[in-house]
Amino acid sequence: MFRKLALTALTAVALAGTPALAAGEGGGHVENIRFSFDGPFGTFDQNQLQRGLQVYTEVCAACHGLRYVPIRTLSDEDGPGIPPDQVRAYIEQNFIEVWDEDLRDYRPATPNDNFPANDAAGAPDLSLMAKARAGFHGPYGLGINQFLFGMGGPEYIAALLSGYNGHDEEMAGTYLYGNDIFPGGLISMAPPLYDGAVEFNDGHANDVHHMAEDVAAFLMWTAEPQLMARKRLGFTAVILLIILSTLLYLTNKRLWAPVKRAAKEG
Ligand code: HEC
Repeated sequence: MFRKLALTALTAVALAGTPALAAGEGGGHVENIRFSFDGPFGTFDQNQLQRGLQVYTEVCAACHGLRYVPIRTLSDEDGPGIPPDQVRAYIEQNFIEVWDEDLRDYRPATPNDNFPANDAAGAPDLSLMAKARAGFHGPYGLGINQFLFGMGGPEYIAALLSGYNGHDEEMAGTYLYGNDIFPGGLISMAPPLYDGAVEFNDGHANDVHHMAEDVAAFLMWTAEPQLMARKRLGFTAVILLIILSTLLYLTNKRLWAPVKRAAKEG
């Protein structure tokens, strides 16, 4: 029985070892990316989150909001880990303003405000996007890819941003951009990134591919800021369960030992 189980598990892992089976929702191909936060021990890479924040701020924020993300969480140790005074400087330098119901006007944001919403361009809010989109569905609905590589949300975003193919079309007066990943193949978002769009302080590569990965990682953090805490908790729970199971097994053996002995002798 145990052997059978072990074999099945092995086969499953072997099957999942090919993330090439992953397919985008639009039929386009979403490649697995080895993000630092993958797997049971994965953690966010603070430098990457900070670069992603920069890409979001300088490029995406023009059209997209992050309405569910409190600005102060940029200081989280499990997140971008930006010191509070630098977060305040970030707000000032980028002139981040929020709508104040009492003043009935815009005012400069404070760290306790959420990032502003942005509905102007008809672009969806990005706070939860990395969890709302899945990049992987295979193999055959077993969910093993998801277990090992995640749902592929950040992979989907990275692939989408670098998936423009130039087959643009005009439909009923709207200009649509050809994209291999977006369902239907045509998206109303103009290609937001170009090589060198953002200059990173740490001198990190700033081609479309790398910026797309960084902003995708950042959006994974906005969608699941407690990811690392959840993994730590899960790990502790598994260890405790292993200890508990061992104790139960030993207790069980001990309790039944006299009965077994009697049965043998009898
Ligand atoms: C010029 C405005 C504009 C900019 C800049 C922009 N977007 Fe968009 N984005 C849009 C619009 C409009 C849509 C809706 C597209 C559609 O549904 O056809 C969209 C949709 C999206 C989607 C959702 C796709 C889906 O599956 O529904 C994601 C993810 C996204 N944008 C990410 C980004 C990121 C990341 C950046 C910054 C690198 C960015 N966008 C910059 C306008 C923009």
